[in-house]
Amino acid sequence: MTEKEITEIVKKSMGSRRYQHTEGCVDMAERLARRWDMDVSLARRAAYLHDIAKEMPYDEQLKMISERGIMLNEMQRSKKIIHAFSGAVIAKERFGESEEVCGAIRWHTTARSGMTLLEKIIWLADLTEEGRNFDGVSEIRELAFIDLSKALIKGFDTTIRFLLEKGERIDTNMIEARNSEISAMF
Ligand SMILES: [Fe+2]
Ligand SMILES: [Fe+2]
Repeated sequence: MTEKEITEIVKKSMGSRRYQHTEGCVDMAERLARRWDMDVSLARRAAYLHDIAKEMPYDEQLKMISERGIMLNEMQRSKKIIHAFSGAVIAKERFGESEEVCGAIRWHTTARSGMTLLEKIIWLADLTEEGRNFDGVSEIRELAFIDLSKALIKGFDTTIRFLLEKGERIDTNMIEARNSEISAMF
């Protein structure tokens, strides 16, 4: 599928604010891909599709996951996270995307230990696209062009702190992702 065909479907599948976030994410993903010598077109496709399932009814997403025998833990089945897994299914089945692109969609929310370069780029692009506005975002955004590991660790710390303050659960994949990035620095 061409990028233009993808954008048309994506645009119809979400509200204008989310589409704006998606475009911001595509732009950031492209810039990071150039900086870190990653295939720009793969990064753009993954960014366009990363939130493709976000506005799909929750029950449909759950059905899609269970019909394919995908095992998710309780947290991954939660409303905020499941769209990453159902989005990866849609990217594969409807858009014919590669496992590389699907992986970046699957892990764009929780992250995971031992992420691929594309997974890292999409995770950071989602967190730091121009429309994002939280304390410390510009620091993480700048760091993403200087030191990917440091940017990820700062991103994980900020996300984990935010979840702690809100009294929410933290997916163990994010803890493991943080540990793995710290270990890789030594
Ligand atoms: Fe998302
Ligand atoms: Fe997103």
